Amino acid sequence: MKRQQKTVIRKARISDAVKIHKLVQYYAKEDLMLARSLMDIYENIRDYFVAEKARAIIGCCALHICWKDLGEVKALAVNPVYRKKGIGKDLVEKAMDEAARIKLKKVFCLTYIPKFFRKFGFRKIEKRYLPHKIWNECINCPKFPNCDEVPMIKKIKKTDVRENKLIGEINNQQ
Ligand SMILES: CC(C)(COP(=O)(O)OP(=O)(O)OC[C@H]1O[C@@H](n2cnc3c(N)ncnc32)[C@H](O)[C@@H]1OP(=O)(O)O)[C@@H](O)C(=O)NCCC(=O)NCCS
Repeated sequence: MKRQQKTVIRKARISDAVKIHKLVQYYAKEDLMLARSLMDIYENIRDYFVAEKARAIIGCCALHICWKDLGEVKALAVNPVYRKKGIGKDLVEKAMDEAARIKLKKVFCLTYIPKFFRKFGFRKIEKRYLPHKIWNECINCPKFPNCDEVPMIKKIKKTDVRENKLIGEINNQQ
């Protein structure tokens, strides 16, 4: 009997960039997410998390720092074969862990699926509350200025740091 391969969520490496690009392009062609150039992915590779299973990249998600207290979660995608198995959730939670670890106060997203992000505590806001800086990316979007993405934001709480919480618990037991 074949052993089930585990899915691992980890920080992206340079060698993942082409696979991330392929995944993002797949959904961009279906108009489900913003297209990103390979150059953009290389430049921002440190923002990315990937889901890896049996050496294949089956999901990605990025956390980009925008300002002293604000980050953006973006480029979230899961290979269609592996959707609805909790991988999208694990990727977003990993990005939120990182946001809490580096002490970001808020994280926003621009999304076509507000129902999904609501599950993680994101709430709708008006675009005007987001800094102008973030619209740089929008200028290159074919939909600009008729954007139909929903802006949402989440406050990061101390309890979002799952790893640190665990470390705290271990230290307390020692
Ligand atoms: C959106 C996406 C990343 C979700 O990944 P996934 O691995 O299928 O999601 P999960 O299995 O972790 O789902 C977590 C929860 O969200 C729900 N969910 C999943 N996709 C959803 C969607 N499109 N709309 C609303 N809810 C959704 C699931 O039912 C699950 O709910 P539960 O916890 O109550 O059971 C994936 O469907 C995808 O790649 N979509 C195409 C690209 C895209 O839309 N990216 C987002 C751009 S902002």
